[in-house]
Amino acid sequence: MPVAEVRGEAVDKPKVVLGVSGGIAAYKACELLRRLTESGHDVRVVPTASALHFVGAATWSALSGHPVSTEVWDDVHEVPHVRIGQHADLVVVAPATADMLAKAAHGLADDLLTNTLLTARCPVVFAPAMHTEMWEHPATQENVATLRRRGALVIEPAVGRLTGVDTGKGRLPDPGEIFEVCRRVLARGVTEPDLKGRHVVVSAGGTREPLDPVRFLGNRSSGKQGYALARTAAARGARVTLIAANSTLPDPAGVDVVPVGTATHLREAVLKAAADADAVVMAAAVADFRPVTYAAGKIKKKDDQEPEPIALVRNPDILAEISTDRVRPGQVIVGFAAETDDVLANGRAKLKRKGCDLLVVNEVGERKTFGSEENEAVVLGTDGSETAVPHGPKEALAETVWDLVAGRLG
Ligand code: CTP
Repeated sequence: MPVAEVRGEAVDKPKVVLGVSGGIAAYKACELLRRLTESGHDVRVVPTASALHFVGAATWSALSGHPVSTEVWDDVHEVPHVRIGQHADLVVVAPATADMLAKAAHGLADDLLTNTLLTARCPVVFAPAMHTEMWEHPATQENVATLRRRGALVIEPAVGRLTGVDTGKGRLPDPGEIFEVCRRVLARGVTEPDLKGRHVVVSAGGTREPLDPVRFLGNRSSGKQGYALARTAAARGARVTLIAANSTLPDPAGVDVVPVGTATHLREAVLKAAADADAVVMAAAVADFRPVTYAAGKIKKKDDQEPEPIALVRNPDILAEISTDRVRPGQVIVGFAAETDDVLANGRAKLKRKGCDLLVVNEVGERKTFGSEENEAVVLGTDGSETAVPHGPKEALAETVWDLVAGRLG
């Protein structure tokens, strides 16, 4: 087992196998490899022979610091076809072609990567990339379903530009986001994604209520907590719809992102996605009010005249609406509350008022929560439970929320 030095102490590095199959997106796996090695993982790259048409063995070897083979016949005395898979903490195949998914689903083992997949007992992540027609073909879809049923995490491909001029679903997600999935899966250290087969909806960001074509009433929500919730749910196997209000953050891997602007748009998108959802988490900062009128032209200042007051009207309370009129029995609904004083008492009252199942109560104030990478909260349950989440990364709070949701989904 390779050992690394951290502040003079010997520590074991998590062992990751990066499988690369033969698609044009193989070049993006170099970035994933770099992120994995730079963050302290020991990465063994196992490309297929086809993958080497796109990126050569020298690149994989130089970036990983390990020899690279595609066949089972190199270094036979070390029995690599068994050893590499057995010793891995995580296997990630990126890109995974239609052919690779088919081989993995059927247990074929005709090269080093497919042998490794059969011997691995750790979590396995596939990041497919192919043309839309190949992804949507029933053969591929059945292979994906088989792999998921057996516990593999198959990330939904992104939508966008494919090889050549066509666009559609089938793009490899951003390598940085595939890396985040790997990090979450390794951190949880469980082989079976516990939210597989579930559809969850997360709202994130802050709504903007326009006054005229250039101005709006908005808020300072960065969207980071909602994105962390979406990313962690995807890494736990859920199908995730992320309703993102005015966020510029990168799309999390495998997540269906629906961009929205105003509270009215957000409401429409949430109601639509919630219709078949197992859980809805309202992390978005929704404007409670919007201007009564929208000026079609820019509002101009007039010399020697005080500005007109802005008349406001209430926006619908989406969280209260979906909690009161439950569209699906057993659906778990989670709200967020930002409080500055009497945090727990106000949180309990809000939980009751909104009618949701769980309420994540944040203490906010200057320099607290907004835009930061970290958070601290108490999650209140209708059963009287109080789960304190200490100050830490927003992913940690997200994992706790999903633990509580998963517990309620049974
Ligand atoms: N929310 C919503 N629709 C609104 C306003 C808020 O769905 N029109 C949701 C938010 O997404 C969040 C929770 O309700 O999950 C926050 O409730 P809110 O009443 O706005 O609480 P605070 O933001 O804490 O503000 P206040 O204390 O003013 O009630």
